[in-house]
Amino acid sequence: MTTPDALRRLAALGRTPSDRALLGHALGELDARHQLASGIAAEPNLEAIMTEFVTRLSDAFGSLPAIRGMAVLDIACGSSSSRSPVTGRRTAEFEPWMCRLLVALGAHPVGLDIGEITDETFEHHRVDLGVSGALDYLATGSFDAIHESRLFGSPEFRSAHGSATERVRREIHRQERRLLRPGGVLIHSDGRRRPARTTGPRQPGEPGPSGAAAGS
Ligand SMILES: C[S@@+](CC[C@H](N)C(=O)[O-])C[C@H]1O[C@@H](n2cnc3c(N)ncnc32)[C@H](O)[C@@H]1O
Repeated sequence: MTTPDALRRLAALGRTPSDRALLGHALGELDARHQLASGIAAEPNLEAIMTEFVTRLSDAFGSLPAIRGMAVLDIACGSSSSRSPVTGRRTAEFEPWMCRLLVALGAHPVGLDIGEITDETFEHHRVDLGVSGALDYLATGSFDAIHESRLFGSPEFRSAHGSATERVRREIHRQERRLLRPGGVLIHSDGRRRPARTTGPRQPGEPGPSGAAAGS
């Protein structure tokens, strides 16, 4: 069977032969399990989202094989009920693709979302991020990396908590600093710059200075 063009383009984003091999394998798994190629054919913006996710991981870790075994928190990870800010309708674009990709790359993601998540192999919790203290139950320093993306513009968030956006943003950024272990990696957080270097001792196999790391 031939590889669909969209998956080939995504696999080509790998920056080294080992990145491209791992990515090609991971994308094949996403296609077999979650019909990634037909999702992109139906909703072409999904390719742009996957491109962004692969690029964020490459920028943050330097090499994709480095992600194996990492505990990664994905805040507002997406769900099978998530809706488009453009159409207001359910969309495959905002299914939990980052967590799925992380699983396929050998990481251990934990996804948080208010939407429905079923039949997924990663750990996930239903959480309302607009509620004060919503992330207090997670242990301090318990994640090697954190990703948080596109919560605040979502129709679900705007309708329930739009007037509290700045309070929630500050609280989530505070929690991200608390939840990352020293030297952990901030993959992406809306409205936060990735720190330039680690604050904790680097462990063998940890990303070097090219990888983003947790800051204060
Ligand atoms: C636009 S999607 C983003 C998905 C993915 N992070 C991405 O970057 O493509 C926004 C997500 O935020 C979730 N969300 C909105 N309000 C939320 C809330 N109060 N608590 C938890 N999740 C929320 C939605 O269910 C949706 O899955």
